[in-house]
Amino acid sequence: MTEPISVVVTGAAGQIAYSLLYQIAAGTVFGPQQSINLRLLDIPPMMKVLDGVVMELEDLALPLLREVLPTAEPAKAFENVAAAFLVGAMPRKEGMERKDLLAANVEIFKVQGEALDKYARKDVRVLVVGNPANTNALICSHYAPSIPKENFTAMTRLDQNRAQAALAARLNVQVDKVKNVIIWGNHSSTQYPDAAHATVELSSGVKTVPSEINDNEWLINTFVETIQKRGAAVIAARKMSSAMSAAKAAGDHMRDWWFGTKPGEWVSMGVVSDGSYGIPKDIVFSFPVTIKDKRYEIVQNLPINNVAKSKLDITSKELEEERAEANNVLKK
Ligand code: NAI
Repeated sequence: MTEPISVVVTGAAGQIAYSLLYQIAAGTVFGPQQSINLRLLDIPPMMKVLDGVVMELEDLALPLLREVLPTAEPAKAFENVAAAFLVGAMPRKEGMERKDLLAANVEIFKVQGEALDKYARKDVRVLVVGNPANTNALICSHYAPSIPKENFTAMTRLDQNRAQAALAARLNVQVDKVKNVIIWGNHSSTQYPDAAHATVELSSGVKTVPSEINDNEWLINTFVETIQKRGAAVIAARKMSSAMSAAKAAGDHMRDWWFGTKPGEWVSMGVVSDGSYGIPKDIVFSFPVTIKDKRYEIVQNLPINNVAKSKLDITSKELEEERAEANNVLKK
């Protein structure tokens, strides 16, 4: 077994963390050989709840889990962390748009960026889950100038998993037979779930998803809208936002970042745009990436048709607007 690494989860008393902590402590994310020191950050009124979470973590009796530190102090939470799951934020409630959340969350991610800059390892891998995740990741990285920008990512893996599951259901195959569906852009209703490059493994061989589904109207309209609105549909049914599936997606995202993607496969992550596919630089945009040695590369040269191009424009505009609004909040 290797030396423990420190991993911070913010919003640790919340509902996503409740599912995520088990995955981290059980070895699903960083592997069965990697022992973990967990740092749990939440706000002062939640410390009693957090004590209960700590008790449950103890009661899991998991050998990989070493120290567990519940705290409301970013300086302690971020000390020497190798990986950070920034989940803590105000969750979206029914009828609330992501933009309403922006102002409430900008300040949190500024403070946490500064704490990462001061206390975390310089090679820390940061995954922002708390919404608006893309813009929060951008702000966080801005306030942590000593950590490479590439180390800040936003989660669109839940959208990818939803898209993969929806295609598998439509094709009537097991979910892991569908590969390389892409989520472009913002983790919001403007995201573009794109099945154009996805494949499906059938008994007759590997086929492209569009040719197997053979229903352009469904792919361009029904599929895209279903995925774009899936988060809202879960809220309408549960009266709370997705938690179990969000936690699983956060684990998937970090595990693939840590261990790499499989040959021929890519995953979607919100990363700082380098201008690929004509997307403006300096917004956190979800691209398909391949990962090796804990470094991702944006998949290049995928053909983008006019429909896709217009969808990419919509979602990148929204991200530019969010960036402008965030800057306004920070100036006040
Ligand atoms: P929750 O309300 O159950 O938990 C949030 C926790 O964050 C609370 O315990 C709260 O006290 C804590 N918190 C608030 N401010 C904090 C701060 N400054 N520092 C540390 N902790 C703080 O919410 P839930 O369901 O766990 O969701 C968390 C976030 O994840 C929300 O913003 C939600 O919109 C987002 N989300 C993102 C998804 C994605 O795909 N990117 C999917 C689902 C949810």
